[in-house]
Amino acid sequence: MKRRTRRLRSNENIRHLTRETRISLNSLVYPIFVREGRGIKEEIPSLPGQFRYSPDTVETEIEAALNAGVKSFLLFGIPESKDDHGSGAYDKNGVVQETIRKLRTAFGTDICLITDVCLCEYTTHGHCGLVTENKIDNDCTLPLLAKTALSHIQAGCDIVAPSGMMDGTVAAIRDSLDKFGYTNTPIMSYAAKYASAFYGPFRDAAGSSPQFGDRKTYQMDFHNAREAANRIQSDIDEGADIIIVKPALSCLDIISKARGQVNVPIATYSVSGEYAMMKAAAAAGYTDEYGIMCESAVSIYRAGADILITYFAVALAEAIRKGDIG
Ligand code: PBG
Repeated sequence: MKRRTRRLRSNENIRHLTRETRISLNSLVYPIFVREGRGIKEEIPSLPGQFRYSPDTVETEIEAALNAGVKSFLLFGIPESKDDHGSGAYDKNGVVQETIRKLRTAFGTDICLITDVCLCEYTTHGHCGLVTENKIDNDCTLPLLAKTALSHIQAGCDIVAPSGMMDGTVAAIRDSLDKFGYTNTPIMSYAAKYASAFYGPFRDAAGSSPQFGDRKTYQMDFHNAREAANRIQSDIDEGADIIIVKPALSCLDIISKARGQVNVPIATYSVSGEYAMMKAAAAAGYTDEYGIMCESAVSIYRAGADILITYFAVALAEAIRKGDIG
């Protein structure tokens, strides 16, 4: 019997029918930046097509994304003022908390709200943890992260996503959520997060570049894959319900290994630098934006991701609806 692999490529309907990788609209998460103020919608120079919104303008954007088929959002906050302790992160009336309340009132259960839990957007030094004598103080940071997560959940968000890479974060957040009765609230933890140059545009967007040193003492070294397996396992042991691998395109091997390792949902964050790189290459006329966007996204799912956090979420939703991918 002759097997001809060409047969499954012989027309478009057959190709679509026999695709190995499926992408659902349900699996897309759209990151959104909210900043304090009123009437603001400003484009982020390093992320063309992405904006900073004030809590009163973000609704329109969410509505448009929802109409395109995206219903999960990851919120980042940019406060008006910062301090050494990042107190804006856990302020009941902080920009993220206010936005959650507004969006919850406007959209009810039609949307899934996820919040990034970290101090770096709120600290003057720009680090993800408290700083004592120029060093990151892991353990003193934990109660503040727990407080931040709790304030987000009390404001009405669905899932918290701690991204600061402090050891023990998931356990600290789980304890405090449970203590306040939020036993059913999931934690989506950035378990394998590499110190990466691909975060550059995000730090522009959020004004969160470290003012001294770098994040290499708490984010992972990109030479290491076994360490990712350990971090993922310890986050799950501490109570993580969903894990995140980040960045995406430079970590396809990590996603694939994680798929074989764990049974919890795996989310991947295709980060700001990945988006900016594709946008810039396309704007220069070097490549076709739609094509590389679709191909990269599918490769992330093919590697084993269940959930994709991406600045292309709305554009990908369109591609899925047209049947070009998925
Ligand atoms: C906060 C945080 C960062 C990103 C997500 N959460 C920045 C960082 O770690 O420096 C990066 C996301 C992106 O680049 O799109 N700690």
